[in-house]
Amino acid sequence: MMLRLDGISGGYHDTLVHRGLSLELGAGEVLAVIGRNGTGKTTLARLIAGELPLAGGSIRFGGQDITRLSSWDRARRGIVSMPQTDMVFDGLTVAENLALTGAKSLGELGKRFPRIAQRMRQTAQTMSGGERKILGFVRALVSPGKLLVLDEPSEGVQTENIDHMVACIRQACADGTACLLFEQNIRMVEALAHAVIGLDSSGVCYRAEGQEISRQDMLATLSL
Ligand SMILES: Nc1ncnc2c1ncn2[C@@H]1O[C@H](COP(=O)(O)OP(=O)(O)OP(=O)(O)O)[C@@H](O)[C@H]1O
Ligand SMILES: [Mg+2]
Repeated sequence: MMLRLDGISGGYHDTLVHRGLSLELGAGEVLAVIGRNGTGKTTLARLIAGELPLAGGSIRFGGQDITRLSSWDRARRGIVSMPQTDMVFDGLTVAENLALTGAKSLGELGKRFPRIAQRMRQTAQTMSGGERKILGFVRALVSPGKLLVLDEPSEGVQTENIDHMVACIRQACADGTACLLFEQNIRMVEALAHAVIGLDSSGVCYRAEGQEISRQDMLATLSL
């Protein structure tokens, strides 16, 4: 397994958002975590990226215990995180935002997202919310890594570009990257997920894999 969470707990101060949550994700797989607003998607993404401390449980990545590693050390080992907000540096240009990942060129991504490629000298703060999401997504995709942790990449993005995101994630997975996709966009989840975990206010309320994944069950999870 590339990633294994064993009974992790965590949240903010005295309030635990997650209690004893476990999951596994293999190379080349997409695990989608769905749930309506406030059910803890971002909190889980941050616990995995190391941006919030764990209150309990353990995390293994690539066979090693990373429970006590900082977000910086997790990133160095190949956990690439695209946060839900502040996914780009607003005061920097598109080119600078991309250069910080260490990537030399946009490659195929420039063809998929020409509006990003055309705005290299523009600062991120002059772009729309959807364009900034796409830039954040492109930054994550060009970053060297083994696991993508994407927190609602489709939020505010047009359908056509969501379809491009799907194609990019498929390609990354075909190359062996694993992806944890935190989403409320069921269409995107259906297109990509090998397994799905649903969250509600009391924790995990739904789990399904492969053929068991059902649109109706996912919609029910989002409307709970
Ligand atoms: N910085 C914070 N301090 C205290 N509580 C927080 C903080 N961030 C989130 N919470 C609380 O933790 C719970 C889970 O929030 P979280 O942001 O993880 O949900 P989410 O599923 O990502 O929601 P959304 O779909 O709106 O992004 C909510 O009750 C929220 O109010
Ligand atoms: Mg969130």
